[in-house]
Amino acid sequence: MNNWQTGRRILLGITGGIAAYKIPALVRLIKKADCEVEIILTQNAENFVTHMTLATLAGHKVWRESDFIDSGYEIPHIKLAGWADVIAVAPCSANTLAKIAHGICGNLLTSTITASSRELIIFPAMNENMFNNKATQENIKILQERGVRVINPSEGDLACGVSGKGRMPEPDEILLEIMRALCPVHDMSGKRVLITAGPTHEYLDPVRFISNPSTGKMGAAMARAAWLRGADVKIIAGPVNIDSYGFEVIHVVSALDMLREVKANLEWADYVIKAAAVGDYRPKEYNANKIKREGRDSLTLELIQNPDIAAEAGKLKHEGQVLIGFAAESEHVTEYAREKLSRKRLDYIIANDITGSDSGFAHDTNRVTLISADVNEPERTFSGLKQDIAFDIWDALM
Ligand SMILES: Cc1cc2nc3c(=O)[nH]c(=O)nc-3n(C[C@H](O)[C@H](O)[C@H](O)COP(=O)(O)O)c2cc1C
Repeated sequence: MNNWQTGRRILLGITGGIAAYKIPALVRLIKKADCEVEIILTQNAENFVTHMTLATLAGHKVWRESDFIDSGYEIPHIKLAGWADVIAVAPCSANTLAKIAHGICGNLLTSTITASSRELIIFPAMNENMFNNKATQENIKILQERGVRVINPSEGDLACGVSGKGRMPEPDEILLEIMRALCPVHDMSGKRVLITAGPTHEYLDPVRFISNPSTGKMGAAMARAAWLRGADVKIIAGPVNIDSYGFEVIHVVSALDMLREVKANLEWADYVIKAAAVGDYRPKEYNANKIKREGRDSLTLELIQNPDIAAEAGKLKHEGQVLIGFAAESEHVTEYAREKLSRKRLDYIIANDITGSDSGFAHDTNRVTLISADVNEPERTFSGLKQDIAFDIWDALM
């Protein structure tokens, strides 16, 4: 299920809120994602962002209130409603939110929304008191009950000078929400996915550690694909930067930290993906002070084995839970992976050849083989971008 994002038709409604200043950046991202975009501005939105800026970035005219009744034989709100794959209103003012909730279609944007049967996503952005106002909250409830996606604003500094709940997500986050709505399958809605990702750092003193080149990309790709398909996602991440929008992220450093967090969160999960590159060994002793180089020509480290987190999870696995491990191997890849699959009591293992020039650590691409504990299930091999492989793996698991 690859390339589903390309060419999708996004209708963007912009209303009169200060967060409209972020929308030109969103239009650039939509174009970069090879999607098509049409933009409708309310009259009040034009106080906050110019149609000229938006039209230049979109590469064509944008729809203004004056087009509603001045466009000759074409009926713009019907045409636009039929064109869109998805409608996103960002920022959505308290005023427009109320109008949509009550079917009031006195302008081009609300008429288009009323005439459309496509998925609608609302990004409310306003002062905290406006957001918490009973009328606004009741309007949000009405929309949610109708299946409209209302993306709660986050806490932070607001343009009105106070700090509170009311901030619109950033443009890249808005695009992710739009993609989540556009995703062709939502077969993971209500499913809870726990993923470990990235390396561990095993410190020998306050400034030195043993680690590996894992970047967490494969785990992050599995997480993003599950989230786009509707899942709730928690990531237990070693010390790397992970694109985390929409996930609960638990940061850990060492294998022991990771084991503790996996055990604490195991019960919660329907699917557990062990994509982290956990250090097999840690220094036997930790020096509280930096080990000095003066007076030593060499340094001998004694290492002891870390616990096997996947095997621990295999012992604690609950009924109906699906446990999936990754096996990063440099030789006898599928043979070693199969041995781990049965020894650790996993349901699946994803054998990952880390020796290829386009697979394994730090690459954007990978080559993996999905092996089931059920011998009747065929092995499947996937290669390509990690984000596409992640979709392929979930396709196979669903
Ligand atoms: C400087 C300024 C900033 C505003 N910011 C917001 C805002 O962030 N959110 C909001 O709901 N309304 C905001 N408003 C009020 C809306 O512009 C007003 O309710 C307007 O009627 C919205 O019209 P529209 O929904 O048709 O775009 C602001 C008004 C002004 C003057």
